[in-house]
Amino acid sequence: MKGIILAGGSGTRLYPLTVVTSKQLLPVYDKPMIYYPISTLMLAGIREILIISTPADLPDFRRLLGDGSQFGVAFSYQIQQNPEGIAQALLIGEEFIGKAPCALILGDNLFYGGGLGDKLKIAAKNAEQGTATIFGYYVSDPERFGIMEFSKTGKILSVEEKPQNPKSNYCITGLYFYPSGVAEKARRVTPSERGELEITSLNDMYLSEGKLNGLILGRGFTWIDAGTMDSLVEASTFIQMIEKRQGVQIAALEEIAYRYGWISKEMLLHSAEKYGNSPYGQHLLNVATDTFLC
Ligand code: DAU
Repeated sequence: MKGIILAGGSGTRLYPLTVVTSKQLLPVYDKPMIYYPISTLMLAGIREILIISTPADLPDFRRLLGDGSQFGVAFSYQIQQNPEGIAQALLIGEEFIGKAPCALILGDNLFYGGGLGDKLKIAAKNAEQGTATIFGYYVSDPERFGIMEFSKTGKILSVEEKPQNPKSNYCITGLYFYPSGVAEKARRVTPSERGELEITSLNDMYLSEGKLNGLILGRGFTWIDAGTMDSLVEASTFIQMIEKRQGVQIAALEEIAYRYGWISKEMLLHSAEKYGNSPYGQHLLNVATDTFLC
C-alpha cells in the first residue's frame, strides 16, 4: 500500500501567512501541519509516501522530512506545477503508485480519535481487495465540501462536490483509499466547471461501479480541514488541549515508528537528542525510557 500527501496550492486564504511559505508547513500548535497527515498514513501502516507540493515549496518539505528513514518510512517528492485539482495528484504519482493500492490525503487535513487506526486498516484492506473507501464526517455547513449521501444500511447513494442543495450533512473528508489501477481511472476524469480534476468525479466513477465504501467518523472523532484562518487556530487549540491535558503528543512521527517496530530505540534516542529540550524531544525521550505508558 502506497500513500500520497497533496501539499500544494497557493494558500491565498491564509495570506499573508503563506506569502513566503507553504500552508502545510505552518505550525499546528507544536508541529508543522504536514506531520498530522503523515501520522494518519503511518497509522494505516503505510511506509512508502509521496509528497507533492509546489516548485517553490517542495525543497522546504525535503529539508524538513528528508528521506523518511528517521521516521521508519520512505519519502519521495514530486512537483505539482499548478493547482489543477486533487485528482491530479494520482496522475503525478502514477509511476510511484505502480500497481499498488494507494491512499491519498490532503496536507491540511487532521484526523484524531480512538480507534482511528482500526478504521484506516479497514480502508487499506478494502483497497487491497479492489474497492475504494472515503470517510464521512457530520458538518453544519455542507455547501463548503464534497458531500456523500447514504442509505440506512450505510450504502453510499451519491457523492457531490460543494452542492448548492446538499443531500446530507456528511462531508467527504480529504482522505481517500483506492485499489490498484487508480491512476488509469484518474486519467479519465475531465476538468470541472472551475477547471479542476475533481476528486469527487473520481469517487463517482467508483460509486457507479459499485466499488465505493463509506466509513463514518462519528462523534468520537475530530476532523479539521485547517485551510482557513479560524480552522488553523482551532486546530492548534485542539492539539494543545489534548496534549496538555493528557500529557501525550499527537503525530509524534518517531513515536509511531518506534511503537510499530519501524525504528530502533537507538534511532528514537537520536531523534530525541536532535530535538533537544523542546517538548517534542522530551516526549521522545520519555517514550524511549518507558516513562510514558499509553
Ligand atoms: O477538506 C475536504 C474537502 O477537500 C472535500 O470535502 C472536497 O470534496 C475536496 O474537493 C476538497 O475541497 P477544498 O475546497 O478544501 O479543496 P481545495 O481546493 O481547498 O484543496 C484542498 C487542499 O489541497 C488545499 O490544501 C490545497 C491542496 N491542493 C488543492 C488542489 C486543487 C493542491 O495541493 N493542489 C491542487 O491542485
